[in-house]
Amino acid sequence: MSLPLGARIAAARASIAGRAGAPVAVGLVLGSGLGALAERMRGAVAIPYGEIAGMPVSTAPGHAGQLLLGELFGTRCALMQGRLHLYEGWAAADIALPIYLLKALGARSLVVTNAAGALNPAFAPGEVMLIEDHINLTGANPLTGPNDESVGLRFPDMSRAYDPELRARAKEISLRHNFALKSGIYAGICGPSLETSAERRFLRAAGGDAVGMSTVIEVIAAAHCGLRVLGFSAITNAAAGGPDQQPDTIEEVLENAAVAGLKMAALLEELVPRL
Ligand code: HPA
Repeated sequence: MSLPLGARIAAARASIAGRAGAPVAVGLVLGSGLGALAERMRGAVAIPYGEIAGMPVSTAPGHAGQLLLGELFGTRCALMQGRLHLYEGWAAADIALPIYLLKALGARSLVVTNAAGALNPAFAPGEVMLIEDHINLTGANPLTGPNDESVGLRFPDMSRAYDPELRARAKEISLRHNFALKSGIYAGICGPSLETSAERRFLRAAGGDAVGMSTVIEVIAAAHCGLRVLGFSAITNAAAGGPDQQPDTIEEVLENAAVAGLKMAALLEELVPRL
């Protein structure tokens, strides 16, 4: 029997106690190709995942695998540079642990970013989508097994998983800056294979606007422990699954993630101090 969740979180927190510094206001998890934001951090202390008790170590391309603690846009933040994915073989509970750690470091809000394919034909690669809500199609959930009531409820509400007030703030800022922010539903799948064209049409019919292999597990954990979530997808490839569907490549995904990443950074520069 593994340790209760609260004890796992406390052990992770204690293992970095000497280096964590002052409490943070915001936690961030950056997606594939979206790590450049880390370079905007000031006075950052980097803690490799391998030095955090109980923390799995990421292997995905474009994922450095360290926790950065410092100032981002004038706000004290903890940033997970490198995320964990189900497709790497991690259990959902392992993926959730760093989210609880961000909360234990003081975070009130969590910013999640990801690279995603556009199911919505009106979305173009290089654009940014504000995540309104998600559909978890991974088949996994980090909260299965015994619940630790000291961390959160057995049946956490998910009706406002992506905080409506924070979303409104993001929209307001994007309007004021004449910034084309799309908004929609993120469909989370397990991967690592990309979807067939039939699956993409199915996901679109089910209400998805973008599809990706991350985020949903983290957001469930965030809802469980009471973190307010703001999520953005970098649209990296057209994934409508129509007759003109082109094959996807990781090069295309990372290239467009970099384009969208610059736009996300501009938005977050104003948003992060208001989280
Ligand atoms: N599908 C799933 N995950 C992704 C995609 C996609 O088309 N693009 C970037 N991540």
